[in-house]
Amino acid sequence: MSDQYAVIGNPIAHSKSPLIHAAFARETGQDLEYGRILGNPYDFAGDVRRFFASGGRGLNVTVPFKEAAWALADERSHRAEIAGAVNTLIRLDGGRLRGDNTDGVGLVRDLDRNHGFRSPAARVLMLGAGGAARGVLIPLLDTGLAQLVIANRTHARALELARLGAAFGPVEARGFDQLDGERFDLIINATAAGLTGDVPDIPDDCLAQDGWTYDMLYGDTPTAFCRWGQARGATRAIDGLGMLVEQAAEAFWLWRGVRPETARVIAELRHPSQPIG
Ligand code: ATR
Repeated sequence: MSDQYAVIGNPIAHSKSPLIHAAFARETGQDLEYGRILGNPYDFAGDVRRFFASGGRGLNVTVPFKEAAWALADERSHRAEIAGAVNTLIRLDGGRLRGDNTDGVGLVRDLDRNHGFRSPAARVLMLGAGGAARGVLIPLLDTGLAQLVIANRTHARALELARLGAAFGPVEARGFDQLDGERFDLIINATAAGLTGDVPDIPDDCLAQDGWTYDMLYGDTPTAFCRWGQARGATRAIDGLGMLVEQAAEAFWLWRGVRPETARVIAELRHPSQPIG
C-alpha cells in the first residue's frame, strides 16, 4: 500500500491540499496517497489517533484545529512552539507525533522566491493578531526586515504578539487608529476580515509609493484586500495561493525528504484550464 497522508479540517471539501500533494508526488516520483478528513470538532484527538493507528504517516492540519494539533503533538519544532499552532504532524519511528508549522516559511518563500520581495530596509505592516498572524510572525522577523508593525482591531492582542516577537526582531504594535501618517513598503493582511468580504479599517494612504500588498487569503477572483491594494496603486497585490503551495512543499519535504518544484503547481492552480500534473 502507498504511504498515507491527509489534510484534516472542518470544513474540508474546498481544500486544495490533496491536488497539490498529488502533483508533488507525481513530480518527485514518490509513492503516496493524500486524502481529506472532515474533523470532528468534539473529537479531533480521536480522528488523529485513528488516522495514525491505521498506518497514516503524516497529516496537514487546517482551520479550526491548528491549536488542538499543537496541544496533541508529543514534540514540536521551535517554530511551531512559538507559533502556538501546528499545521503539519509527522509520525516518528515508535509512533510519537512531531508537530511543525510551515505557514511562516510558506509566506516568506512566496514573497522572496516567487515574487522577489527584498526585505532589508522594508517597513512592513501586518494586519491581524490572531492565529494566522502568530503563525508567520517569527519567520517574517527572521527575514531581517527594517521594521514590523502589527496592527489589530483589538489593540491588546497586537501588543501581546509584538511582545512575543520582540526577541526576534524590530516589532511594534498599533491600533488601526494609530497609523495616520505612516507609510509601509508591504502590508500583509492576516485578519479574517476577508472571509466576509471586508477589509480592515486602516488609513487609505498608508501604502508607500511602489508598496506591495499581500493577502494571506486567496480566491478564484481577487480578494477584498487585493482589490484594496490595487485601488491604492500597489505595485503588486498578491493573494495567499503561493503561500498555500509553499507551506505544502515544506510539509512534503518534512515527510519525504524531497523538495518539490512549486512554480508549475501555483500556475496550474491559478489557471485550472489544464489539470495539475
Ligand atoms: P485566525 O486563526 O484566522 O487568525 P483568529 O485567531 O480568530 O483567526 O483571528 C482573527 C483575526 O482577524 C484577528 O486579528 C481579528 O481581530 P480581533 O483580534 O480584533 O478580533 C481579525 N478580524 C476578524 N474580522 C475582522 C474585521 N472585520 N476587521 C478587522 N479585523 C478582523
